[in-house]
Amino acid sequence: MIIIEFQAISDVLKSREGEKVAIRGWVYRKREFKDKVFLVVRDSSGVLQCVVRDKFPKIFNSAKKATIESSIELEGILRKDPRAPGGYELDVNYLKLIHIAEPFPITKSAVDAASDFLLDVRHLWIRSRRMTAILKVRDTIFKAIHEFFRKRGFYEVQAPMFVTAAVEGGATLFKVDYFNRKDVYLTQSSQFYLEVLIYSLEKVYTIAPSFRAEKSRTRRHLTEFWHAEAEVAWTGLDDLMRLEEDLIAYIVDKVLEERSEELGILNRNTSILENIKTPFPRLSYDEVISILQDKGFNIKWGDDLGSDEERALTLDFDKPIFVYGYPEACKAFYHKPMPSRPEVTLSADMLAPEGYGEVIGGGERIEDLEVLISKINKFGLNPDDYKWYVDLRRYGSVPHSGFGLGIDRLVMWICGLNHIREAVPFPRDIRKVYP
Ligand code: 4AD
Ligand code: MG
Repeated sequence: MIIIEFQAISDVLKSREGEKVAIRGWVYRKREFKDKVFLVVRDSSGVLQCVVRDKFPKIFNSAKKATIESSIELEGILRKDPRAPGGYELDVNYLKLIHIAEPFPITKSAVDAASDFLLDVRHLWIRSRRMTAILKVRDTIFKAIHEFFRKRGFYEVQAPMFVTAAVEGGATLFKVDYFNRKDVYLTQSSQFYLEVLIYSLEKVYTIAPSFRAEKSRTRRHLTEFWHAEAEVAWTGLDDLMRLEEDLIAYIVDKVLEERSEELGILNRNTSILENIKTPFPRLSYDEVISILQDKGFNIKWGDDLGSDEERALTLDFDKPIFVYGYPEACKAFYHKPMPSRPEVTLSADMLAPEGYGEVIGGGERIEDLEVLISKINKFGLNPDDYKWYVDLRRYGSVPHSGFGLGIDRLVMWICGLNHIREAVPFPRDIRKVYP
């Protein structure tokens, strides 16, 4: 029995002219001529053009049978060819078809015919070079988040997904049929559990899904999204913003270092990303309202910023920006009032440039028992739902702050995508739960 040592295509492309190499993967493109068949084969690492000649009739016939997306093993001699992708071509002398694919449903005419087609066949579209590039950038982003927090001495923690109280308001809660109980939901944010955990670990983070029953379809909302959340004891808003900008700068650096090829496949203009250096501009909510009014928006102090406003604002910037000091009514009840101006909160959102808008929401939390209870009442919430959360203010309460980063939105911006659905392998929104 011959044992073949298969190599990743990216490694093969680093080999030398005349070397014998073996690869395995899927047929990406095919061109047939009278005396030869060109197969462009892809694996997870790249693509390689392979030529199968009629002087080897057995493999020549197999190559003719290979269809797009058939799985295949090949061995041959590597030749320089400036016309081939990557500059090399494999002159094949061994070929084994592992599975002959049925006619692949993703064709140009099918894509043109139905606007949601690629979403319906996401389980097959996932293997496209575009999705593969996005998934690799996404992988680097997740890795970079873990690295950053660990380097900074944070503990990774896990919070439950089944919860009994809203963090971000009742309107987007998903109710769950939990053994006939009436008060169980999918979590909107792990924040409150992270606040519990700082009393043990001081600096904590988690990466987990969050769920929101977002009823409107937008380019930047999913019903299930990946949330990187951090909470830090003894920390105020200024230190929090510094932590957030360091995190984003670290992630962008890592992506530029590891994923320039993928950003190229996505046609991402990387000069913007190369320019992402701290500190990021900080704008007060008050300033932002007057900027938007000057731009002709019909917005007044006290209104929340929507995606149109955030888009107009961030198109003027080539770095992420912070907007801080939102009015009390724009933010959830747990935000600490600014001592000098209690009608605004010690909150800050980070908005990505180029029109992308909010990627992070965060701020300082109320640490005082009476203030928190009065806020819960003022917001018309049921104090019983928040008993354990309020309890934290009874036993050694400390100033603390935290934030939540929408990872899918960050992927969307870093990759320069038009829609958040492209940033996730299996997007969930008001209409999509398949595949
Ligand atoms: O601004 P949000 O609602 O803040 C919180 O959930 C805080 N409890 C986080 C914290 O302080 N620990 O959400 C945080 C981020 C947003 O800035 C956005 O990037 C993302 O989560 N996000 C969504 N991403 C995709 N689809 C949705 N429906 C999202 N809702 C929020
Ligand atoms: Mg927010």
